[in-house]
Amino acid sequence: MNIRKNHMRLCFDSKSANESFARVAVSAFMSQLSPTLEEINDVKTAVSEAVTNAIVHGYKDESGEVVIDASLWDDGRVIIDVSDTGCGIDDISQAMTPFFTSQPEMERAGMGFAVMQTFMDDVRVTSRPGQGTSVFMVKRVKGSAK
Ligand SMILES: Nc1ncnc2c1ncn2[C@@H]1O[C@H](COP(=O)(O)OP(=O)(O)O)[C@@H](O)[C@H]1O
Ligand SMILES: [Mg+2]
Repeated sequence: MNIRKNHMRLCFDSKSANESFARVAVSAFMSQLSPTLEEINDVKTAVSEAVTNAIVHGYKDESGEVVIDASLWDDGRVIIDVSDTGCGIDDISQAMTPFFTSQPEMERAGMGFAVMQTFMDDVRVTSRPGQGTSVFMVKRVKGSAK
């Protein structure tokens, strides 16, 4: 049975200034698993994409709160859930298709979910239109082998 070694929950305003704060906070938290630099950077990149999406798409730059729930497991997994209570996603599979963006005029590449899937071991999105979105991600940290 896997045991949860540590857990944290972070709630912050949907301001772009908090994107770097969020990725640094998560990387500092996961350092307890002795990850490699590459593993830290993978998680930072994925968290950045998810948090940016919550701010720019979920809340459309209006005010709201982004919540990051993160836990560390004794088998080396980092489980991160980034959620918002913003506008939600109508069609999740379309949203996750590479190059799809609902904001082409903002010069968004539509690669955020593809990046999350590349850098994390598992990515699951749940969303309800009008209620919000949750991006659940798992990274298996091998640097932690003991
Ligand atoms: N938290 C969210 N709330 C609402 N819509 C979202 C959220 N995250 C992603 N989306 C939708 O999914 C699309 C694809 O996201 P992504 O792959 O990151 O590309 P991009 O951010 O460049 O548009 C977005 O354009 C948006 O329509
Ligand atoms: Mg994005």
